[in-house]
Amino acid sequence: MRTRRTFGRDLLAATALAGWKSRGGLFADAISIPSSEFRGAASLRAHAAARSLYVGSAVNTGLLEDDSGYRRTVVEQCNIISAENAMKWAALRPGPEQFDFALADRFVAFAEANGIAVRGHNLCWHEALPTWFTGTVNRDNAEQFLTAHIAAVAGRYQGKIRSWDVVNEAISLADNEPGGMRNGPWYKVLGPRFIDIAFRAARAADPRTLLTYNDYGIETDGAADTAKRAAVLALLARMKHDGVPLDAVGIQSHLSVDSGGQIGSGLNEFLKEAARLGLKVFITELDVNDDSIGEDNPKKRGEQVAALYRNYVGMLLGNRAVTDVLSWGISDGSSWLNAPGAKFRARHSGREETLSLIHI
Ligand code: G3I
Repeated sequence: MRTRRTFGRDLLAATALAGWKSRGGLFADAISIPSSEFRGAASLRAHAAARSLYVGSAVNTGLLEDDSGYRRTVVEQCNIISAENAMKWAALRPGPEQFDFALADRFVAFAEANGIAVRGHNLCWHEALPTWFTGTVNRDNAEQFLTAHIAAVAGRYQGKIRSWDVVNEAISLADNEPGGMRNGPWYKVLGPRFIDIAFRAARAADPRTLLTYNDYGIETDGAADTAKRAAVLALLARMKHDGVPLDAVGIQSHLSVDSGGQIGSGLNEFLKEAARLGLKVFITELDVNDDSIGEDNPKKRGEQVAALYRNYVGMLLGNRAVTDVLSWGISDGSSWLNAPGAKFRARHSGREETLSLIHI
């Protein structure tokens, strides 16, 4: 029987087998056609739909348009996608008064045409801001810029986005601000109220999309993650208490094989608290950094990465608040961890390694 819990088992089979085939060098291209084992009723998309779950990946819109193998994989495997970069400020805002929706429009139209749900990523973040931001946005006009952007973007796609990352990564304890707030560009000009402003604007623009707070570094029982998780939970509880429209929390889940053994009670407690606040929980950017395992040990690499995916996703899906699982990149070749100049992973042998949720 297909239950939420058996999704982890299917995932293990998919990642392990796919990893094996890739290591066997059966495919010539970095992004190739998935083997028949993962198509149709055996695809992740079908496994997810049978359990009323949303499963998919962030999508590189350049590859989506230029690479038919990549495009086919997205359609075959995903019933939800987010844009890795195409809906960020830097992509949408060529100038202070200008919007360029061309790419984002095509991305949303592609999803619609293929019966795939969309996560919007993101409406307010300290990164990926346009170069004109500094020097243009200040204390006097910041609220106007933020609300106008959200009204235009969330308004344009009203009814087409299952969930929006309204505010992304607002907590950074290292910055030593009250409440653990990150001392980022929006915080500097608006203080902590930028969060409430953004969520209220998003609700006004799209009454039914699931408004999400999204963050990383809250997964393990290590000291830093434990402290950050508490700060995030306090923020979410404060927002609920103040009547700020908030529907979900996104746990990014950029994992590493080294920290796999440290995931358990803290995150489970967080899931319970989130459910108590009435929030849905999404895994929004799942991947596993396998950098610490030697080049010469592909078998160990594949086994450990697949086991971590199985245990992690299986554990989270044991909590009914968790409904959506998205990886951050559908294949090793398209993962940000393997991008030229990437800082977080030293070894870049691409498809030779089992890194992505859907390794093909
Ligand atoms: O598109 C330009 C290109 O025109 C230019 O020539 C080139 C030169 O550097 O840059 C290109 O933009 C890059 C963009 O990715 C598209 O490839 C940016 O420099 C680069 O900073 C950007 O990185 C993205 C990063 O967010 C910052 O926006 C990564 O692809 C993306 O995977 C990463 O995703 C984030 C999530 O949004 C939030 N959570 C963490 C996650 C990983 O960092």
